[in-house]
Amino acid sequence: MNQTVVTLDKNGDIGVIRIDNPPVNALSQPVRAGLQAAIEQVQADATIRAVVVHAAGRTFVAGADINEFSLPELPPPGFHEIFDQLERLNRPVIAAIHGTALGGGLELALACHYRIALESAKVGLPEVHLGILPGAGGTQRLPRLIGAQAALNMILKGEHVAAAKALQLGILDAVVGDEDLLAAALRYARELLSQGKGPRRTSELTVDPASVPAGLFEQARAALQKRPTGNPAPARIIDCVEAAVSKTFAEGAALEKRLVEECRRTQESAALRHRFFAEREAAKIPGLPRDLELRTIKRVGVVGAGTMGGGIAMNFVNVGIPVRIVEVEQAALERGLGVVRKNYEISVTRGRLTAEEVEQRMALLQGTLDYADLADCDLVIEAVFEDLELKKKVCTRLGEVCKPGAIIASNTSTLDIDVLAEASGRPADFLGMHFFSPANVMRLLEVVRGAKTAPAVLVTVVNLAKTIGKVPVVSGVCFGFIGNRMLESYLREAEFLLLEGASPAQIDAAIQSLGLPMGPCRMLDLAGVDVGAKVVFEQAKAGILPPDPSYRVVVQKLYELGRYGQKTGAGYYKYDGRMPLEDPEVETICRQLAAEHGIQRRSDISEQEIIERCLYPLINEGAKILEEGIAYRASDIDVVWINGYGFPDYRGGPMFWADSIGLDRIAERLDHYAQVRGNEYGYWTRAALLTRLVNEGRKFADLGIMQG
Ligand code: 3HC
Ligand code: NAI
Repeated sequence: MNQTVVTLDKNGDIGVIRIDNPPVNALSQPVRAGLQAAIEQVQADATIRAVVVHAAGRTFVAGADINEFSLPELPPPGFHEIFDQLERLNRPVIAAIHGTALGGGLELALACHYRIALESAKVGLPEVHLGILPGAGGTQRLPRLIGAQAALNMILKGEHVAAAKALQLGILDAVVGDEDLLAAALRYARELLSQGKGPRRTSELTVDPASVPAGLFEQARAALQKRPTGNPAPARIIDCVEAAVSKTFAEGAALEKRLVEECRRTQESAALRHRFFAEREAAKIPGLPRDLELRTIKRVGVVGAGTMGGGIAMNFVNVGIPVRIVEVEQAALERGLGVVRKNYEISVTRGRLTAEEVEQRMALLQGTLDYADLADCDLVIEAVFEDLELKKKVCTRLGEVCKPGAIIASNTSTLDIDVLAEASGRPADFLGMHFFSPANVMRLLEVVRGAKTAPAVLVTVVNLAKTIGKVPVVSGVCFGFIGNRMLESYLREAEFLLLEGASPAQIDAAIQSLGLPMGPCRMLDLAGVDVGAKVVFEQAKAGILPPDPSYRVVVQKLYELGRYGQKTGAGYYKYDGRMPLEDPEVETICRQLAAEHGIQRRSDISEQEIIERCLYPLINEGAKILEEGIAYRASDIDVVWINGYGFPDYRGGPMFWADSIGLDRIAERLDHYAQVRGNEYGYWTRAALLTRLVNEGRKFADLGIMQG
């Protein structure tokens, strides 16, 4: 037996199998081998009358070791083999669950005969988020235990289910309060023995076909067809759960084994696994001293109760952190607080919050017109209008009123964080916290590290982001940070394509065919053409626009015409409610602009050209961001695009996608467009890093940590 990760001890006549594989007890090969050895030892020891399986550390088993899914073959022993062996033991086996039993962890527990858990525990089969299906018997045992409908729902959603609910569903047999779980499990085992209860094997149960709602699987398949996804798992999950109803356990298990193997070999599953690790890597900041003294954030201040300020405040209130929100005048304050309350009330109608919880949250949110009320806040985030002079004044005032050691942050999307940091008078305490709209919903937080931001400030904010459920990515200072800077090249090409003769619908359809929720024209109409145009004006002010008179002229023209998008009923489209309709007026505008700027119209723009022209420069910009050290890793850029801009997770983000296309191909197409479109303004000039990677036959994924 592998002594270090799995041990078998005896507590009287009860065998105690303990898994100890930090940080989350993943079932890597040594754990599987250790489990198998422990099971064989139990088989050989007739004095063991029952077995408890538990885990050390902060959690029960969080699943298979996701790293192993990238190996050509999973190293033996296999999950089915061990779990079947465990289930076949002729003495009761009890799983004792704390923390989370996820994926292979829950499947291990399902192969045990009984399950006891702490009430704080959660269980789930989240494999679908990795583009695979539960591949250790879960698709066969769970339906046999809780019925096909509940199992299908749980596996397709991949949600974590709280212990109380799991008990109700029949996944758990007992839930205990805050006590010594191992002691409770041993007590439970002895009770079973005294009641003469023996093994209870889930694989021997059958699903009563009468318990399966008519058309369950057909409806699930139809729903998938209606909302297709690039994820290879859901369709196969339905097949497996159906097999749990109609086939023997052995037949169903064989199908599950085959289909999980098919899934894990897909590019889409590789992309989803990349996302899993990328999000965790992104929170790691390289090169920092180990003994940083982090700051404690117990109270937060927000300046400006507009669209962003209100949403930002909600994030903290939602996790019980009190917020003071400052406005310039009472009416704006009341309006802002009213919007927050309305958002919470919508959650009540959707059954996500109770009326009482709304009041508790609103009580944590205190409005004020006096900056002095921010004096006891540990972190203050300014979210006033995007105006440099105003923001500088606000930051100076914050530098005066905030207590020593407080962190000051700006939510600016375009302004220079270092300039604002200097205005505050305490640049070491200053950084950018770039939330995305709606700020209470979007998961991404770009944490912008200024030239003088203290490491402890940066780490405190990255950790805080996780506390409020955000995915933090650190960005250096540049116009647009990581996400919006890359977006600029994408929007530039979309506009040139409009001038050359593509329609908004044609461009959006091409981009959406890749799995993005909306193309650039629909996105700008939703975000506001005015907002989009102002970004161009800001860039002009900052002196960073190319000297190209045809640069993003469409958005500027639409803005001039008051076509602000959905909110004014017309933008790149005209609107019937929220429904975008093609507008011949836009074609006329584009035709005129093309003529003014001497741009040739043509009718041969293909879907592939749209994809290449919008997305390959975006990837090239990503490479520049890496070579400048604005982002630490290519995978950080992927995290930004998946969580902030709807880039399909099953493509892994733009940099992972580029690797899968081949960097030589990307480079070749950039060169091609430089030739056919001309390259007067450097739009198609390859990033030096891209050329270097191509020459060395390497990928973005091969790069280490980049520091500018
Ligand atoms: N395999 C490998 N590494 C894992 C892992 C897994 N299943 N789960 C977590 N880790 C690693 C993380 O990468 C991270 O490593 P790092 O410190 O080097 O960055 C470390 O464990 C801690 O993870 P988190 O930062 O996510 O810790 P949290 O406390 O925030 O969350 C958790 C804990 C809820 C368990 C979360 O890690 C999680 O959701 N894990 C994945 C669960 C999952 O998807 N399980 C299914 C796996 S597939 C499977 O089981 C297939 C089977 O059917 C055959
Ligand atoms: P908004 O116009 O909705 O709200 C700004 C609020 O600030 C207003 O309520 C205004 O009364 C208040 N305000 C102005 N001066 C003030 C002062 N001196 N003291 C206190 N309050 C003051 O603007 P929005 O959209 O919320 O944007 C705020 C910031 O967030 C900007 O920097 C913007 O660039 C950034 N941002 C906006 C995003 C968006 O999608 N709206 C996305 C990401 C960042």
